[in-house]
Amino acid sequence: MSMPISSNIIKEVETLISNETSNIANMANVCTHLMERSGWHWVGFYTVDEVADELVLGPFQGPIACTRLKRGKGVCAKSWEENSTVVVENVHEFEGHVACSSISNSEVVIPVRKSRNVVAVLDIDSIEFNGFSSDEIKYLELVVQKLESRWVG
Ligand code: SME
Repeated sequence: MSMPISSNIIKEVETLISNETSNIANMANVCTHLMERSGWHWVGFYTVDEVADELVLGPFQGPIACTRLKRGKGVCAKSWEENSTVVVENVHEFEGHVACSSISNSEVVIPVRKSRNVVAVLDIDSIEFNGFSSDEIKYLELVVQKLESRWVG
């Protein structure tokens, strides 16, 4: 069962990534911290593979996941292509949802931007329907802002 994350997470993440410039190291620690604080089912990143023009799996916590996500299909691709947060209260009602795990029921995806371009997305799955409060989504967007401020490349 998940427990709500609090606004403390923003400061914690800022401290966690403040001395490191590796994007991979920072994504790895951010998703691990979010996982430990929340109890969500899957927390991780997909990065933009510009050559293949698709998303590729990055650091994550949780069950093994799909490695490649194509444009035009799924929640992560929608967030990438629309450059906006996508919240899905019931993934079974989202046409084109890519089901990496059969027990996920809701999902939130937040774009990570560098100079306004999407360079990665933070993807979180919950086994609960409607598993993310509006406060949690706000905190997650602020966490991603911290990561963006440290992003190299
Ligand atoms: N459900 C995502 C795919 C990634 S997994 O949830 C880890 C999607 O529809 O893009």
